[in-house]
This record gives sequence, structure tokens and C-alpha cells, in this order.
Amino acid sequence: MKLKGLLLAGGTGSRLRPLTYTGAKQLIPIANRPILHYAVEGMVQTGITDIGVIVGETGPAIRESLGDGGQFGCQFTYIPQNAPLGLAHAVKTASAFLADTPFLMFLGDNLLRSGLKTLVDRFISGQYAASILLTAVDDPRQFGVAVVEDGRVTRLVEKPQNPPSHWALVGAYCFQPEIHQAIMDLNPSWRGEYEITDAIQVLIDRQRVVDATFVDGWWKDTGRPEDVIEANRLILEDLTPKMQGILDESEVVGRVSLGVGTHIEHSIVRGPVVIGDGVQIRNSYIGPYTSVGNGVLIEETEIENSVVLPDSIIRGVAERIDQSLIGRGVKVQGRVERPKAMRLVLGDHSRVDL
Ligand code: G1P
Repeated sequence: MKLKGLLLAGGTGSRLRPLTYTGAKQLIPIANRPILHYAVEGMVQTGITDIGVIVGETGPAIRESLGDGGQFGCQFTYIPQNAPLGLAHAVKTASAFLADTPFLMFLGDNLLRSGLKTLVDRFISGQYAASILLTAVDDPRQFGVAVVEDGRVTRLVEKPQNPPSHWALVGAYCFQPEIHQAIMDLNPSWRGEYEITDAIQVLIDRQRVVDATFVDGWWKDTGRPEDVIEANRLILEDLTPKMQGILDESEVVGRVSLGVGTHIEHSIVRGPVVIGDGVQIRNSYIGPYTSVGNGVLIEETEIENSVVLPDSIIRGVAERIDQSLIGRGVKVQGRVERPKAMRLVLGDHSRVDL
């Protein structure tokens, strides 16, 4: 059985404002690579080569980043979704592309350590109408939740007030083409979306078998800034060091990757850290779990556990920057002149914790 892929790269990313005012949430870099690229790689690793990409308002940027699929060993078909009306609506929008082929749907802002192969292999080897991926979470109310009995999914509910279990649906699903009929019977949920969770419940109500696979390793939905920082930490745990930059009276310890044309002067870098191309670092400390994008300048500053997007300038900051997500072309500068005061020019929905 050869599956098609359906990659969801629409959505507005409201919880990641202001970064998502100027870009797609799926293109925020984790260890200097867009989140979406990890999603594509995970799909391709399962053997899928024909992938439909659902795009919304940020479609042009998504297309520019992914291209035709050649760089990943697959082929993309871009499918515009006019309004973000839910995951089941996305499947409906893609029905001409999916036709009567079984498929793997994956949410482009989800990251999985162990990939999608176990889910897909189980689906292919069994006789299931659908196969879902589950993980135990502390607060299931934020997710779709499944009840599993004897290895079969017996009930699903989207964002329940009183969760019937702690098993959350991770954003990866395998479906037989009969899911399209199940979607036709749906009504919008309380949040006005056509929920894929409800469509899977329709399959169960029709006595179809829905299989569950459990996540091995970590899973991260990168919807909020703290999730991006945590995902960055998890990805950097597996960083392969690569030294292309130039060190000048600097100390670099642990696993560190330095890009082309990058200069580190009178500084300490403690890995795991990834620093992109054309970066200048002077009289600074870059601590563990930090990713620094291309063209960034960091001077007289200490920073760790943070993600800095390309072309930003961070200079003379008196206190250590920690657990921060800094966008493109941002300037963060300490002031030496008097009066010693803060001057802030912040975009809408920016957040500063002092
Ligand atoms: C969606 C699904 C939910 C699932 C979650 C995983 O939620 O509706 O069932 O648990 O993705 O990330 P949303 O991100 O739309 O709130």
C-alpha cells in the first residue's frame, strides 16, 4: 500500500504573535531550520513521496521555503484552503488530490523525535480505517483525547472539559479513503471548526476499527513561544557539531555548529549551540540550547536557552538573556547614556518580561 501525504501548513499562528504577523508559524526556525522541514523529512522517511501541502494566507512563503520537493526527495502539490475551518475541512479541500488513496496527514507545526514510521508501518500492515498517534499529557483539555480499550480506540473527544483519559492526539493520522464520507456528515464544533477528531468518531460509530500507536520519545506542538524554545532545546540535544567559522581568542566547548563567515571574538560559546552564517559575536557568552540565525550581531551580551532569528542585533545588554524568542531584524541594545531608562519600540502583541 502506497500512501500519499497531506501536510498542513495553513493556520494563523495567533499564539506566536508578533512573529507570525510577518511569517508563517511553520517557518519559525528550530536549530536554524524551519519547523516545516522537519515535518517533511518525517513524512519522506516513511516512504511517502507524493505530498499535498495545505496553505493559507502565508502560502507564498511556504512555497518559497519548500520548493517543488526536489530538495527533500518528494513532490509537492500546493492546495489553497480559503479559510482555516479545521482539520476535517483541510482534508475535504484536498479530496481531489487525495482521490481514493490512503494517506498520512501531519500538522506542519508538530515535531516528533521518533518520526512517523511506526504509525505508518502499523497502518499499512493492519486492516484499519484509521490509525492515530497518541501521547500522555498533563492537561488533556487542550487537545483531542482518545479512549483506548484492548488496543482499539473506542471514543474520541476534542478539547474536553472533563477528559476521559490522558491520551492526547498528536497531529499525525493515517486514513483510508472512507474518511471522506465520514467528513460529509460533520457539523462545526463549538469553536466553529470541522474537527478531524469528530470524523474519526463517526468511523467508530460505524463499527470501523481505529488503531492507536503511542509516541516513542518526545512530541512538541510548537504553537506557543515557550514550545518553540523547548523544541529548540530538544533538537539541539542531537546536534552534530560543524565548524566553519573563525575563532579569535574565544573558547568553544561542547557540541557547537558554526556557519560560514561567522566570527567569534573574545567570547565563550557553550554547546549545544547552533550559530548560522555571517554571524558576528564579540565579548559575549552564548550558553547552552541557543540557536542564532544568519547575519546576527551579538556584542557585550550573555544569552542562553534562546532562539534568535536572522539579522537581529543584540548589544550591551546588562542582564543575561534567557528563554527568549527574538524575531528577524530586531534590535535589543543596552543604554550607557543618562538618563538610565528603558526605551521600547515594540510591535503589537510583543512580550517583554523584565
Ligand atoms: C489539533 C487537533 C487536536 C490535536 C492537536 C495536536 O488541535 O484538533 O485534536 O490534539 O491539533 O497538536 P489545534 O492545534 O487545532 O488546537
